[in-house]
Amino acid sequence: MRRLLAVFLVLLCVLLGAPAGVGAAAHEVTYDRYSLKVDGERLVLQSAEFHYFRLPSPELWRDVLEKFRAAGFNAVSIYFSWAYHSPKPGVYDFTGVRDVDRLLRTARQAGLYVIARPGPYINAESTGGGLPAWVKTVPGRARSSAPGYRAAYREWLHRINPIIARHQVTRGGPVILYNAENEYQVNTDAAYMQDIQDQARADGIDVPITTNDCCDAGSWSSTWATGPGAVQIPGVDDYPQSFECADPGVWGPWGEGLTERLRDDIPVFAAEYQAGAIDLGNAGYDKCRELTGPAYMKYFYKNNLVTTGATMFSYYMGYGGTNWGWLAQPNDVYTSYDYGAAITEARQLTPKYDEFKRQGYFLEAVAPLAKTEPITSPAAPDNPALTTTARANPDTGTQFVLVKHADRAATGTDDATLDWAAPDGRHRVPVRVRGRDAHVLVAGYDLGGQRLVLSTSEIMTHALIGGRDVAVLYGTAGSPGATILRYGSRPAVKVLEGDVRAEFTGSDLRLDYTHDRLARVLVTGGGRRPLLLLLGTDETAAGFWRAGTGAGPVLVRGTELVRSASVSGETLRLAADTAGGPVEVFAGPAVRRLRIGAEDVPVTRTPSGSLVGATRAPEPVRLPALTAWRSRAEAPEAAPGFDDSRWTAADHTTTISPHPPKTLPVLYADDYGYHYGNVWYRGHFTAAGSETRIDLNAVTGLRGNYLVWLNGRYLGSAAGGVEADSGDASTPPNPDPGPGHFDVPPGVLRPGADNVISVLVANMGHNDDWIADDLRFKQPRGLVAASVGGTPISWRIQGSPGTDPLRGPLNNGGLYGERTGWHLPTYPDKSWKTASAELAPGVTWLRTAFRLDLPKGQDAPVGLRFGGEPSPAYRVQIFLNGWNVGQYGGDIGPQRDFVLPAGLLDEHGTNTIALAVTAEQPVTGPGPITLFTYGNVRTTR
Ligand code: GAL
Repeated sequence: MRRLLAVFLVLLCVLLGAPAGVGAAAHEVTYDRYSLKVDGERLVLQSAEFHYFRLPSPELWRDVLEKFRAAGFNAVSIYFSWAYHSPKPGVYDFTGVRDVDRLLRTARQAGLYVIARPGPYINAESTGGGLPAWVKTVPGRARSSAPGYRAAYREWLHRINPIIARHQVTRGGPVILYNAENEYQVNTDAAYMQDIQDQARADGIDVPITTNDCCDAGSWSSTWATGPGAVQIPGVDDYPQSFECADPGVWGPWGEGLTERLRDDIPVFAAEYQAGAIDLGNAGYDKCRELTGPAYMKYFYKNNLVTTGATMFSYYMGYGGTNWGWLAQPNDVYTSYDYGAAITEARQLTPKYDEFKRQGYFLEAVAPLAKTEPITSPAAPDNPALTTTARANPDTGTQFVLVKHADRAATGTDDATLDWAAPDGRHRVPVRVRGRDAHVLVAGYDLGGQRLVLSTSEIMTHALIGGRDVAVLYGTAGSPGATILRYGSRPAVKVLEGDVRAEFTGSDLRLDYTHDRLARVLVTGGGRRPLLLLLGTDETAAGFWRAGTGAGPVLVRGTELVRSASVSGETLRLAADTAGGPVEVFAGPAVRRLRIGAEDVPVTRTPSGSLVGATRAPEPVRLPALTAWRSRAEAPEAAPGFDDSRWTAADHTTTISPHPPKTLPVLYADDYGYHYGNVWYRGHFTAAGSETRIDLNAVTGLRGNYLVWLNGRYLGSAAGGVEADSGDASTPPNPDPGPGHFDVPPGVLRPGADNVISVLVANMGHNDDWIADDLRFKQPRGLVAASVGGTPISWRIQGSPGTDPLRGPLNNGGLYGERTGWHLPTYPDKSWKTASAELAPGVTWLRTAFRLDLPKGQDAPVGLRFGGEPSPAYRVQIFLNGWNVGQYGGDIGPQRDFVLPAGLLDEHGTNTIALAVTAEQPVTGPGPITLFTYGNVRTTR
């Protein structure tokens, strides 16, 4: 009975378009050497990575996750950032933008499984690699079983695990896998790896546990495959295209990208497969999107699929998002974490999304892919420039033949005839492969009620719609295609559109054609149910959307997106994004009406049996100019008379940091509880009168600086120290920022009296701990050395108050304006003066407000654009309604456009922009500053 119920629920899920198992009832997750299984049903896991902490707008989580599902992904992989939730030991926040319960509910509603990755270490180019900065002050090596660290990470796991546990597939939720740690391949502390898993089990995690191995895969998983610390399903990370976006023409500089089989009893799992890149060389993310564009996806993803037989994929990233606040690990990334992903930071779909959709729909529709073994290729090309590799499903005999260039770097186009010994007979068929492309061709496949002998077009999807099979096949525009289908007797073939030649011999119907726009062939009779064959190009295939309804699947083209569909009576309702133009739907004959969102779309029936109509263009969006800027200079901390008596005395003589201070007292900001953003220091000394120079060293992370005043006189600035990330455990990080000498100008010292050195240090974020050596992670931030001759200095420090419960610990640093609320929308700035373009050294705030009333029912993401060339002499922190949405400046990175996400942005009200500009010298401020849109569609969410 339970089995029957399970089967029924799986069926219901399939009908409703959700992957089996993503439903309210409890399910069982098992696996064998081929694939994961839910309630015994095989599953090809197709996941893309998403970081909720990089999209601080929970209502937009749904948008992104629905876009994942609409591309054919059935899972989302999610890191949970410990740092994002915990400002200090024992304090955790899971509300508002940190509401991960809501996130997991949203994933389930979107029909996605979840790979839950709570670390404790996550890397992800996030500050501290996800470890809160307070962990820097905990004794004991991070990412080990040292007792101090253990107590800290257990605290996190016991908070996050129960939330994840209640959303597991085994309890009717979406979480299908639990990922312990992250690329933990250097510091091989088995007890630590084991303890993470023991804690998870104790907290109720009962889905399979995985881990993502890096680089030198085998090292960790094979050595420890069965010992303490071993996980059930280890996977491998692969980034074959590297992160050098400046040269997007490179082709697999880091290898073939073939995911290794780690064990015989588990599926091959591509735990993180490159789907974008960090922008190490500041080339801009469009270049990263090019580096990892459709050509790369076609070649590397398909090659991996057919060569390794992987059935578990997680693509990093599906949507990158924003390093808002102080979320970035500064040595690798700037504000945008767009990643060159398929979905941009502003949630726009790109040609990479189309390629994911073509491949994703294929993996979802063609079930035999979930269980394959390698076979000697049955298809031989007669052109040596081309080569084939193949797998087959041992139960159905279905063949999957990969056709690609023998030289993977080849860029020319080659034609060949394939001599193909398919399960249903031998055939000679034409193929054409462009350089840096690959095709997965299928033979011996029960395509719905049809028998596909073979095709040199690729299968995108097929569905039983209104009693007939509708199949979408595609190939490169202009290339030849041949599709052979088997029939009991001669079928009737009607070419409804396009140029397709049909020939029936023996029991085979052979169709020959050139891939061009969208050809339509209706095949009836022949002892099978009717087939509508849609033969497209890459472009026309990508125009199709597939969605499930209670009355079976539907196909839609002409919309920008289909989020969900339902049929009631004669009406097909779509929740979809549209931008105007023709729309076509393939639904059962009972469907006669189309409703998109709240609008009826008049339709007529076509000879293909589909319905066509037209959607309305969205209303244009008008954005106000940003005028009436007001400004106020700050940095009273620089003045000698400033009252710092309530600041924290910086008087420690010891630190647990593995980096000893060069001078005492210890001035490391973290040691005094100031972990994020700017910190101020004030050092008092009684001058002998002979001091000529102040020596200061600060460590800030890449892109950081510090500014120095003596008795209110500005002395200048210097670049802060940076981690030297050699990636090599034997090379320690470089905490030495080099010289920071500041001459004492004549007449500024006050001999025998109190003199004050004021220093503003930018803490750009914390190093990660990628190689688990603890040294990089525990590199201090703030001043690491200070002297003025030999004169004793007594120091005080001030940083972020860390008291914003809404925006969280990473939103603010310790600028005077931040401590006083100048970034907040409610701050009364009426008395501020009209802004001038010229800035003095120090910190100047600029504020303006604007009203928006964007058209309702549309999605038009808004951005803030800095025109002109930024100066390296200033850096700008950008606050939208109090939220720190990014940093701009000549030394900060190539970014000029900043996303103002809906939710933080009031699309129907007044918004405040506050800019905190830190200038190192007199300089003309940033500008012109404008609002713009990244896109505009009608939407029904
Ligand atoms: C991987 C790591 C991810 C991310 C990625 C590069 O090594 O596991 O967290 O850092 O590299 O973006």
